[in-house]
Amino acid sequence: MRPNTMKALEKSKPEEGLWMVQAPVPEIGPDEVLIRINKTGICGTDIHIWNWDDWAAATVPVPMITGHEFAGEIVEIGRNVTGLEIGQRCSGEGHLIGTESRQSRAGKFHLDPGTRGIGVNEQGAFAQFLKLPAFNVIPLPDDVPDEIGAILDPLGNAVHTALSFDLLGEDVLITGAGPIGIMAAAVARHAGARNVVITDINADRLKLAEHVVQSVRTVDVTIEELSDVITELGMKEGFDVGLEMSGSQAALDQMVEALVMGGKIALLGIPPGQSPVDWSRIVFKAITIKGVYGREMFETWYKMIAMLQNGLDVSRVITHQFGVDDFAEGFAAMKSGLSGKVVLDWT
Ligand SMILES: NC(=O)c1ccc[n+]([C@@H]2O[C@H](COP(=O)([O-])OP(=O)(O)OC[C@H]3O[C@@H](n4cnc5c(N)ncnc54)[C@H](O)[C@@H]3O)[C@@H](O)[C@H]2O)c1
Ligand SMILES: [Zn+2]
Repeated sequence: MRPNTMKALEKSKPEEGLWMVQAPVPEIGPDEVLIRINKTGICGTDIHIWNWDDWAAATVPVPMITGHEFAGEIVEIGRNVTGLEIGQRCSGEGHLIGTESRQSRAGKFHLDPGTRGIGVNEQGAFAQFLKLPAFNVIPLPDDVPDEIGAILDPLGNAVHTALSFDLLGEDVLITGAGPIGIMAAAVARHAGARNVVITDINADRLKLAEHVVQSVRTVDVTIEELSDVITELGMKEGFDVGLEMSGSQAALDQMVEALVMGGKIALLGIPPGQSPVDWSRIVFKAITIKGVYGREMFETWYKMIAMLQNGLDVSRVITHQFGVDDFAEGFAAMKSGLSGKVVLDWT
């Protein structure tokens, strides 16, 4: 039944590229499960690892099976595991945590300083099989299909960020219409924001945002001023909440400028290096800033599945699906900047 080897997409050598290899099927421990992977999502992180940029070279040991966005089915269960069954469809939290730290012991698992990522620090999900602590498994209800299961990790980033502050009746500015920014716009709509405005410098990304999210105002900041949009929408004092999802300093500056006094910013985007910040502007506007990392374990997962079951629809953010043998095409689509989420099928 259980094969000895599996297909896996691996960073085999410290240079650009990923290679499809035959790897041993992982042996699970007593608290782990083995998941047969059906679908995986390609993340910006995987592109960094493909490109082997400075971050990747400093962070990822080689060889490493990449990938952390997945949906599959449990095929083996460790002897200590309760509450899960063989055949259970699932996704899972790719951040592996310890239980010793203050934050973990306070139940804030997502703040454990010892967090290790599958596909980055530990063997990942771009493979026919993945071993995962049972603790990290998220069972998928029947009405959440595998391709959505495969993008719950980035949807979780969007949900965690968007739900950082109350959005009901608020005017929300999202900078960066990548897959996560677009999904955050959908969540902001679902959560009852009044105006949802999303910016980018890439017109294709903004078109995709309009395709995915109902009544979102897209702004190409290379040709339009946010202040004009604020006037057009009849807003008096600026946006109440900002979700930074581009990692661009220019976008953050625009956000601070466009926010109301006492406004709130959740920062998910990762700037490429150190970047200058006009702190006095932030102080005098009395702005609250929250850094966001990963997803809350497991409140984000609970909320996002509940929202998906209650009308949140992000399916159109998936613009490409490939069989895994065509992985290079999938990565090319991601790198083109024209795609939304790209999903690979391992079945
Ligand atoms: N904190 C975390 O845990 C975490 C997790 C996942 C991703 N991220 C980060 O979140 C961000 C979003 O992820 P993604 O996968 O959607 O990324 P992405 O790179 O696909 O999207 C970023 C978008 O920002 C746009 N952009 C660039 N400059 C801009 C500007 N001046 N104004 C407006 N938009 C601008 C780009 O054109 C692009 O469409 C990235 O920075 C990523 O590194 C953080
Ligand atoms: Zn990811």
